[in-house]
Amino acid sequence: MSRVAVGLTGLGRMGRLHAGNLAARCAAARLACVHDADPAVAAAVAAELDVPWTESFDELLGACEAVAVATPTASHAELSVRAAAAGRHVFCEKPVSLDRATTCAVIEAVDRAGVVFQVGFHRRFDPDWAAVAARVHAGELGEVTLFRTSLRDMTPPDPAFLATSGGFFADVTVHDLDIARWLVVPGAGEVVEVTAHGSAADPAFVAAGEIETCVVVLRFANGALGVIDNSRSARYGYECSTEVMGTLATARVEAPHGHEWRTSGQAAYPLPRDFADRFPHAYAAELDAFARCVRSGATPLVTGRDALAASDLAAACDESWRTGSTVTIKENR
Ligand SMILES: NC(=O)c1ccc[n+]([C@@H]2O[C@H](COP(=O)([O-])OP(=O)(O)OC[C@H]3O[C@@H](n4cnc5c(N)ncnc54)[C@H](O)[C@@H]3O)[C@@H](O)[C@H]2O)c1
Repeated sequence: MSRVAVGLTGLGRMGRLHAGNLAARCAAARLACVHDADPAVAAAVAAELDVPWTESFDELLGACEAVAVATPTASHAELSVRAAAAGRHVFCEKPVSLDRATTCAVIEAVDRAGVVFQVGFHRRFDPDWAAVAARVHAGELGEVTLFRTSLRDMTPPDPAFLATSGGFFADVTVHDLDIARWLVVPGAGEVVEVTAHGSAADPAFVAAGEIETCVVVLRFANGALGVIDNSRSARYGYECSTEVMGTLATARVEAPHGHEWRTSGQAAYPLPRDFADRFPHAYAAELDAFARCVRSGATPLVTGRDALAASDLAAACDESWRTGSTVTIKENR
């Protein structure tokens, strides 16, 4: 199988991670060309990885079979639609858009173009989560009764980022909502209810009307319950864990633990500092999986509709937090 030639646009924090993976760690894909709104950034990454670069997105399309979009969220929809219209397969960072109608329009456009479209929910490709998912989906847990998941960033983002993030639930919690849908929904049915609470201690978050900590309670169609806790500023390290409890077994993905006291940059055992540190395999594997779908025509593990469903739940969490009430999920909100 020849490797899929991927053109990458957006070479910031996330784009550089994808660039490194496409250049060196993907068996099914290769980095064909890079592009960024800032030509100096594109030139620097191209020199570092010994690949061509371009100042024009149209030229990028001409140099590849598939595009990876890692630009800021506001441009994902336009770039994905342009790439699909040119017949290019698209890997798009999450979220597709902060606007539901725009996300739906992107899904329609990629469907119409008949291209593979995958969204960047990388955790589905982490070996630990994938191993648990295989056994949960095979029914080895019995009926799922409780889902618990946690995502905590070590350090908060620049306050300037908050204005464009789409809010805490759309930016952070959406990863856990996707994991809930992926792991639990096949057995327990869709999420039918969310109740979200949020708080902020950091004055920059308070001033921006944003939260930095949340707890979300989910109820699934079969009556199973879920709990999500998220923090933007755990300080001691980056930590991500998931637990699924069933009538026959309980599955956990988390670091080993015991009694401990955690302080800034310090835990009893080494913890990653951020998502790139924690998920090196997942970020490479999601691009490899995307490339294999491009070659085989198979449906990606994360589709545009998956991204839409997770965004809908994030919007429901936001509504719950703002109104202080439980939100019932309507089908096709
Ligand atoms: N899946 C994950 O775990 C994860 C983690 C972090 C960020 N993200 C997502 O990745 C995306 C990028 O985030 P980031 O933190 O890397 O941003 P960033 O600000 O670090 O980098 C963005 C880059 O895109 C370039 N750019 C801006 N507009 C452009 C355009 N129209 N065309 C081409 N290049 C353009 C900028 O010059 C910059 O180099 C966001 O949508 C974010 O939600 C996903």
